[in-house]
Amino acid sequence: MLASRAFSLIGRRALSTSICLRAHGHAGVVKAEDFSLPAYVDRRDVPLPEAAFVKQLSAQQKALKEKEKASWTALSVDEKVELYRIKFNESYAEMNKGTNEWKTVLGGVLFFLGLTGVILIWQKIYMYGPIPHTFSDEWVSMQTKRMLDMRINPVEGISSQWDFEKNEWKK
Ligand SMILES: *[C@@H]1O[C@H](CO)[C@@H](O)[C@H](O)[C@H]1NC(C)=O
Repeated sequence: MLASRAFSLIGRRALSTSICLRAHGHAGVVKAEDFSLPAYVDRRDVPLPEAAFVKQLSAQQKALKEKEKASWTALSVDEKVELYRIKFNESYAEMNKGTNEWKTVLGGVLFFLGLTGVILIWQKIYMYGPIPHTFSDEWVSMQTKRMLDMRINPVEGISSQWDFEKNEWKK
């Protein structure tokens, strides 16, 4: 949460700095920047965000806030909901609802995997030459024989696997 908050602050700061720089030449009063004020967040682990969701109350909302100071039994259900919506954007039920975003993510991942496959096939057909002759069975067996003749890696490697008396791989 801290990281994401910091990140969004940096993003906004970068943005507002560039605006400031451009505005500088024209002079003028700099108003309090948004990033220096408490921010509203919809998070299940932050039941009471630092700021109310609605920052600029309309006249009607202001009247409702006045009414809120009196007994709450005088408030109708709609008014209570409206008060809630001033303070919060989404309810917990709405936050818990879940989204279908995972379908987009999965689709995107599969799309790019498929695209990569197509690129690989294209490369195999149009880019790479034929497989080198050193990959032929005959060449590989000659090469292996030479490695055994040179006693390459006799302790734990290839030569340790070969039985030089019986002339076959050890079992
Ligand atoms: C408020 O909630 C809606 C979804 O209900 C969301 O799209 C929007 O981004 C939210 N706004 C803020 C400031 O969190």
